[in-house]
Amino acid sequence: MKRAFSGVQPSGNIHIGNYLGAVRQFVQLQDVYEGIYCVVDLHAITVPQEPAELRRQIREVAAFYLAAGLDPARSTLFVQSDVPAHPELAWILNCFATFGELSRMTQFKDKARKSSQESVSAGLFNYPVLMAADILLYQADVVPVGEDQKQHVELTRDLAERVNRRLGPLFRVPEPLIPQLGARIMGLDNPQAKMSKSAESPWNYISFGDDPDLIRRKIARAVTDSGREVVYDPEAKPAIANLLTIFSGFTGRPVEELEREYRDTGYARFKADLAEAVIAGMEPIRRRLAEMEAEPGYLEEVLRQGAERAAAIAESTVRQVKEALGLGLGRA
Ligand code: AQP
Repeated sequence: MKRAFSGVQPSGNIHIGNYLGAVRQFVQLQDVYEGIYCVVDLHAITVPQEPAELRRQIREVAAFYLAAGLDPARSTLFVQSDVPAHPELAWILNCFATFGELSRMTQFKDKARKSSQESVSAGLFNYPVLMAADILLYQADVVPVGEDQKQHVELTRDLAERVNRRLGPLFRVPEPLIPQLGARIMGLDNPQAKMSKSAESPWNYISFGDDPDLIRRKIARAVTDSGREVVYDPEAKPAIANLLTIFSGFTGRPVEELEREYRDTGYARFKADLAEAVIAGMEPIRRRLAEMEAEPGYLEEVLRQGAERAAAIAESTVRQVKEALGLGLGRA
């Protein structure tokens, strides 16, 4: 079976963009790929985190994987920092990555723009190298991600090819897998920028912790475009195009069909129906999340077993890389 690898940062509340762009794909791929899915907590600390809150968010992402439908009997689920091979391979790959190519990563440029040069951590700059290590450790064939991570998967491919050229065929070169619909869900308060966990305003995103009433209010308050026609035109009507994408994502109804139904109904009716569709689509996941609260120890056991399985694969990759580089002497 071919292998899929991906991860989600525990850097805030999981939102519908994370679900439609990434996690839903993980679940759909389970029948075709062996899945390895990680809570990438080492990525989250590239910006300051409060420890108790970080721990809560790690549990939340892991619980979300299960609630969304990942089956621990078929997929390996674990927390990144439980497998020390991740930072170990990241250091090695840092010695193959160049300052120039990391400087060109748009996510770094975006995030760095929001703070001063002095306060941006070196970890944020090196984040894509750690991500490359995450993927290459497991010899993944595909990496299901949203559009914003495509550039990082391309860097991963470049690094894999560079190492393979220099040291022999150590890594499988992975392909990004970007969904047709939902690859870039935009912020409800700003359709020019993607929906983001760490957005300053909670009106930017719909998270799985939001109750139905708050979801209704968030959608009612979402920015719209001028005019009153509900049409899919990302250039002229980016806000409505985004809402149509979310509607289609949660109902499975094609965008054209939704356009036909809502073209002339006005924004208010469209938004009210969208809110109910989102609430209904999120409901089974929210229910399972609540059930898991009442199953103490289950999540920890899944993650413990997952880390054990993941470590065995990851350590074998690191051993081969170190041997090829001529590193180490004391341990076999
Ligand atoms: N808005 C989005 N639309 C579609 N997919 C998205 N993803 C993130 N935002 C959107 C995808 O979700 C997966 C997990 O993302 P991440 O945890 O690596 O964080 P991120 O990409 O940096 O985006 P976030 O969720 O907004 O977090 P913060 O605010 O902490 O940066 C990835 O596959 C991503 O593509």
